[in-house]
Amino acid sequence: MDVDGSVTATSSFEVTGRYLNIPVRSGSPFRRVTVTIGDVERAFDIELAEGEPDWWAFHDLGPVAGGTVTVGIDSADSADALSAIHQSDEIVGAESTYREARRPQLRFSARRGWLNDPVGLVYFEGEYHLFYEHNPYGVSLGHPANAETGIWGNASWGHAVSPDLVHWQELPIALYPDAAGSIYSGSAVVDRNDTAGLRTGSAPALIAFYTSAGTPFTQCLAVSNDRGRTWRKYEGNPVIPSPEKQSRDPKVAWHAATGRWVMVLYLDRYDREAPADLATTEISSFGVYTSPDLITWEKTSEFVVPGDTECPGLFELSIQENPGESRWIAHGAKGSYLVGSFDGRVFTPESGPHTLNEGNCFYAAQTFADIPVSDGRRILIPWGTAWATPPAQAPLFAGMPFSQSMGLPVELTLHSTEDGVRLFANPVRELETLRESTTRIVQGPLQPGEDPLSSLTGELWEIEADMELGDASRLVFELRGTPVTYDTARREISCGDRTASLAPVDGRIRLRIFVDRTAIDIFGGDGRLYMPMGVDLSGGGRSLSLRAEGGGARIHRLVVHRLASAWE
Ligand code: FRU
Repeated sequence: MDVDGSVTATSSFEVTGRYLNIPVRSGSPFRRVTVTIGDVERAFDIELAEGEPDWWAFHDLGPVAGGTVTVGIDSADSADALSAIHQSDEIVGAESTYREARRPQLRFSARRGWLNDPVGLVYFEGEYHLFYEHNPYGVSLGHPANAETGIWGNASWGHAVSPDLVHWQELPIALYPDAAGSIYSGSAVVDRNDTAGLRTGSAPALIAFYTSAGTPFTQCLAVSNDRGRTWRKYEGNPVIPSPEKQSRDPKVAWHAATGRWVMVLYLDRYDREAPADLATTEISSFGVYTSPDLITWEKTSEFVVPGDTECPGLFELSIQENPGESRWIAHGAKGSYLVGSFDGRVFTPESGPHTLNEGNCFYAAQTFADIPVSDGRRILIPWGTAWATPPAQAPLFAGMPFSQSMGLPVELTLHSTEDGVRLFANPVRELETLRESTTRIVQGPLQPGEDPLSSLTGELWEIEADMELGDASRLVFELRGTPVTYDTARREISCGDRTASLAPVDGRIRLRIFVDRTAIDIFGGDGRLYMPMGVDLSGGGRSLSLRAEGGGARIHRLVVHRLASAWE
């Protein structure tokens, strides 16, 4: 890089293809790559391959055929890489995309690059919109130097849509980083009454809130008047100037009772200069703001979800056992939540923190805005996190041109239990459309040494089990080589590095388990236990088995569905 980091090698050409294909190789020096079309210049940090690439990233040129694009690199040593960057109507490797050995088949993942938080989840005119924190040009959060600032480069909003939460179509990047900063997490709403005055057509505008992660961090707005296909950053940004340090992750919702918009925002009080004597979670607070028009915001209160931080959410659910009664749920990125009440200005906790997630593959979950009243569900998608320190690729996705996935979409319901009011999570019913063939095991005893699943082979599975524990000390599902074990004496279920309690009801446990290439999702007790696990099944064979150990158990219901890939 030359001293001021400016462009030292460029190449200009007429745009004839849809994509710029860019060679990437892990361990190559990071180069600053600029892509200029007209007066729009975008800059990214990329481990540009000087020789044979590991994989090809793509930059979507969009519908600009005819214009001129100029690609610049900040290194005179990158002539080979510069000449390897080429345009095409296909992304390199498109023929094997979604079929790669470690490509999740039930969960969403990006075609190329890294993803983390789901953001901007909103339902609009028959489509579920899933935006996501995205580095399109690398399989990690990016340059290790980002660790110093705590801000990672290339952070964009990727975008996908689905008619059914199961089959996703990836669309062009919705929001690219700009001079004000990287695009960090946030949310989206449908502005039905045009409160912001940003609607241009006959249909309501979609409004997105994101954190502009620059110096300082600010909260910004973008608008789409074409069903989320293109986005314009609001000229009056930021709508909330930095309240404190790296405050971020605005989640906005309409509050019908007060007729105002409500935002919850993570307030960053982490002192990066101080010795690390305080965990981030101990000083995390969430701010509550309200607005009549999505543009002017007033802070009304704060609340704390002890032990949790970042990516807050606040929503109301009625209690299933008593639909006339409802509670508000306030949660953070880890899925810890408080149960309480909310008057549009102040959240008042009643109980908690409680734990939604018992797995190792869950973070920064968000629920959808604007689900139609006729549907009425509260649908949540988590980041199926498989962390690795940048710029390393996560081992779960070794050798892949992408990293990370979303978790399975789940429906949250609120229940009155003997412990108090609690959230349950169950896979959304749309996942049942992936069932390809079903095997029902006959009811009856399961003696040690027997295996009712021994004839089944395959890759993607859903298992529904209702098992009477009887005299068994353990029940073990062996799922393509990975055990999921229930310990009767301890009343605990375990998988990989996680163990969680699951109390039997009348001596029986009920489980629903999904097996994907990089994950096992376990739901127990009709959603009381939610345990999404990142698991490497790539070398694990194709067999299933179930055994009772130490004594006999009894099968009340055991139904095994072979699943189709969501990408087919
Ligand atoms: C959570 C998080 C958010 C932030 C985003 C950046 O994973 O740290 O707080 O906005 O990631 O990608």
